[in-house]
Amino acid sequence: MRLRYTLKGIEATNALGNCLSMVLEPGNLFLLSGDLGAGKTSLTKATASGLGIEEKEVTSPSFTIIHEHLNGRLPLIHVDLYRLGPHADITEIGLEDYFDGKNVVIIEWAEYLKDPLVKKALKIDLSFINEQSREVCLTGKAKIWRERLLLLDDCMKAFVDFRPVVTHK
Ligand SMILES: Nc1ncnc2c1ncn2[C@@H]1O[C@H](COP(=O)(O)OP(=O)(O)OP(=O)(O)O)[C@@H](O)[C@H]1O
Ligand SMILES: [Mg+2]
Repeated sequence: MRLRYTLKGIEATNALGNCLSMVLEPGNLFLLSGDLGAGKTSLTKATASGLGIEEKEVTSPSFTIIHEHLNGRLPLIHVDLYRLGPHADITEIGLEDYFDGKNVVIIEWAEYLKDPLVKKALKIDLSFINEQSREVCLTGKAKIWRERLLLLDDCMKAFVDFRPVVTHK
């Protein structure tokens, strides 16, 4: 299933992060990709904040590739592959241990992964429309995402300005 939204302003990105935090479950994996400055870190921060993680702790990991945030409702592992470039290997980075069904894992620059992991993940593609707005496309191929994306869409409908377009696949 696939959802698409126009995100007008950072408030809309924050709302999406908040709604995502409400529907995610232990073991979920988000693969974030898209243009430079499209809002991947902002969306991660908003999701973290919805999980009760203090905002100041969540920055785009620059020197460290993996950041653990363990004080929220669920443990959040934030990964930024930008510095690694293409063909990043999850085993070499030491990511596999985090896929134990307990952590929520969010990966920025997921297009750099050698193994795209898309079967079970929620893919989130952000794109830069202009300074004031972004577009986001969320794709969950696994069955479990259908119900969860419908809940997410209900949550997003509270924000009428975002012009949600739902495509069932
Ligand atoms: N929906 C939106 N509309 C307008 N501006 C936004 C929106 N979402 C985020 N921004 C702004 O875009 C800027 C870049 O955001 P952010 O750092 O989250 O992008 P990024 O995708 O993580 O960038 P990078 O590719 O460098 O990691 C920030 O100033 C943020 O406030
Ligand atoms: Mg970033």
